[in-house]
Amino acid sequence: MTTPPHQPEPGSIRDRLSSPRPTDQASGPGDSRTSDVPESSFQNGDSAGDLAAHGRGHKQIHAAMAPEPVGLDRHAMLSDRDAKAAERKVASLFLLALLGVIGFVVTFFAVEQEFGKPWNTWFTPLLGTFMALALGGIGAGAVLWAKLLMVDEEAVQDRHDFGSSAEERAATSKALKQGLADTGLPRRKLLRNSLLLGAGSLALLPLPFVGFLGRFQNKERELATTGWEKGARLIRQNGTPVKLGDIQVGGVESVFPDVEEGTLRADSPALLIRMRPEELQLAGDKQEWAYQGHVVYSSICTHLGCPVKLYEQQTHNLFCPCHQSTFKADQGAKVIFGPAARPLPQLAISVDDEGYFIAEGDFSEPVGPSYWERG
Ligand code: FES
Repeated sequence: MTTPPHQPEPGSIRDRLSSPRPTDQASGPGDSRTSDVPESSFQNGDSAGDLAAHGRGHKQIHAAMAPEPVGLDRHAMLSDRDAKAAERKVASLFLLALLGVIGFVVTFFAVEQEFGKPWNTWFTPLLGTFMALALGGIGAGAVLWAKLLMVDEEAVQDRHDFGSSAEERAATSKALKQGLADTGLPRRKLLRNSLLLGAGSLALLPLPFVGFLGRFQNKERELATTGWEKGARLIRQNGTPVKLGDIQVGGVESVFPDVEEGTLRADSPALLIRMRPEELQLAGDKQEWAYQGHVVYSSICTHLGCPVKLYEQQTHNLFCPCHQSTFKADQGAKVIFGPAARPLPQLAISVDDEGYFIAEGDFSEPVGPSYWERG
């Protein structure tokens, strides 16, 4: 059994759409169907260009060219059963958005982010998928809602003088209320509640980002430590350890700590340089940190973090290719040129029983660009 089509209320948008007033009856400021141009004007064959040429206003041209409003009342065309089915479809999309938000938040907090672990590969794609579900669910639900259940109205509104009269404001307020009624929200509980749940849950999306801001808070020296530790051998990129005698005087080697994922850690790359012991002019304890003319510095520039790998053996200068900061390798990597504000941190080294270079601990100060909590 089908329900008789919904009868439009007099004066509503639906009413106007199903029984549009003839153009010659329309009147009043702001009425989209009002035309200031008499019918005879068009019969004379005036084009828009002609009207403009004769000094008639933009408003007249617009009104002359505006199409007659057309409308399609989908409420009236649907049986109760079909309307319910459409409502369920839209509601399920809104609920899908809710699931997306829940998945996003749970993934962010439950999955441990650890570089190099297998699940780390899926972390970002999972977040992206859940966010797409959340935003896509709300978007698709809104589109389907508009296409299946809302009134389809095409309207043209002429530009008019600034400021509205009291009657216009009252009419606008009435039209807005009628528009809300036309969405069906007040009477369709399922739709309204699912929209509130789905769209409301979007407010939770930024939470993980806010939470992330505090992730490193109170983690002692999180930014001040690297992969280097006491006893860690100095290894090359290919994992082989560096032995005393492997490097000639004037030579350099990029080294990493022999710890898990040591060659992948962004904070640990260093440069092992060999010069004659008498050439080293290190201050205080730092002299002890070198070993028979071998000295190790962090190779992360203290300006903006570029790799400092260019070594000139005659002058013992180390160059950063990004902004030309220059460090004196024989004098504790002090800055002699460029924007870097402090020396490259030095790593204390020695040699183990088998003759391989080992670290005596971590860098004594944070590596890389300066930051405000260094002290
Ligand atoms: S990053 Fe090295 S000088 Fe700017």
